Amino acid sequence: MRIAVTGASGFCGGVVARLAAESGADVVCLGRRPGPVGEHVFWDAAAGTPDLAGADVVLHLAAAVGDSGPEQEFAAVNVDGTRRLLEAVAGTTPVVWVSSASVYRPGPYPAPVAEDHPTDGQRTAYGRTKAAGERLALAAGAVVLRPRAVYGEGDPHLLPRLRRVVKAGQAWLPGPDVPLSLTAVENLASACLAAHRWPPGAYNIADATPYSRDAAVAAVLGVPVRHVPVRAARTVARTGLVPALTPYAMDQLTDGLVLDTARAHAQGWAPGAGLTTS
Ligand SMILES: NC(=O)c1ccc[n+]([C@@H]2O[C@H](COP(=O)([O-])OP(=O)(O)OC[C@H]3O[C@@H](n4cnc5c(N)ncnc54)[C@H](OP(=O)(O)O)[C@@H]3O)[C@@H](O)[C@H]2O)c1
Repeated sequence: MRIAVTGASGFCGGVVARLAAESGADVVCLGRRPGPVGEHVFWDAAAGTPDLAGADVVLHLAAAVGDSGPEQEFAAVNVDGTRRLLEAVAGTTPVVWVSSASVYRPGPYPAPVAEDHPTDGQRTAYGRTKAAGERLALAAGAVVLRPRAVYGEGDPHLLPRLRRVVKAGQAWLPGPDVPLSLTAVENLASACLAAHRWPPGAYNIADATPYSRDAAVAAVLGVPVRHVPVRAARTVARTGLVPALTPYAMDQLTDGLVLDTARAHAQGWAPGAGLTTS
């Protein structure tokens, strides 16, 4: 099988491309830079049409990712790039489109969030453009995966951001503790490789059980967690004086987002990786 992977020069796409190659697939990595394995075909998602000739499956992970920045720069990749990719596929090849739990209407979330939760009201250009891109993908009959806070070796987003809350050997988080879902990159990769056989639609992807935020942060950073009052942290976040504490980071740390993953499990997918927290 020939599997086309976009975003393979990045964190998640690189793991997906490697797993695809290990499974015996012929891998082609489309992007501005090569992936870790397989053939490289240049594609700037913000400008051109991808050459998907011969692909049996397309796994689309390329995205403009980040907390802030001009909306049009996110849209050029996450919306317009998606449109160009879907036009190139023209409904003839299965597409797995990697979205994000950031598409969900902001919390707090008193109960686990299923795929029918509204996908509007996002507070960042990233969330808004991922939601707009996945609407195109869903309309075109793609399988859309929604992981949350992907972690693992080489993670360029979550861990560096978390490290910045450590001061004097302690992680300072807006209290109280909340439950949350995280997604091991290995679990996202196994879902990507299975999902082209699933019925079109959206699927939450996360580790088998939710974590205590504080226990997860303590396990990952290896330091104890201390709390600051939420109201004080929100005030600081609005000032922009603490780079790690953006309003978006505040939401992620306090909203208690647990993903209901029953839909993906019903397809026979099971997450094999997880964090050890004690
Ligand atoms: N990391 C997370 O916590 C998380 C959570 C939920 C969902 N996701 C989703 O998972 C996917 C991968 O994210 P990641 O964490 O692996 O991000 P990443 O490490 O920043 O990788 C982003 C990838 O997108 C590619 N890309 C960006 N702009 C491009 C352009 N104009 N043309 C072609 N390729 C472009 C980058 O390639 P070049 O820069 O080399 O061109 C890179 O390969 C994204 O769709 C993201 O929305 C991630």
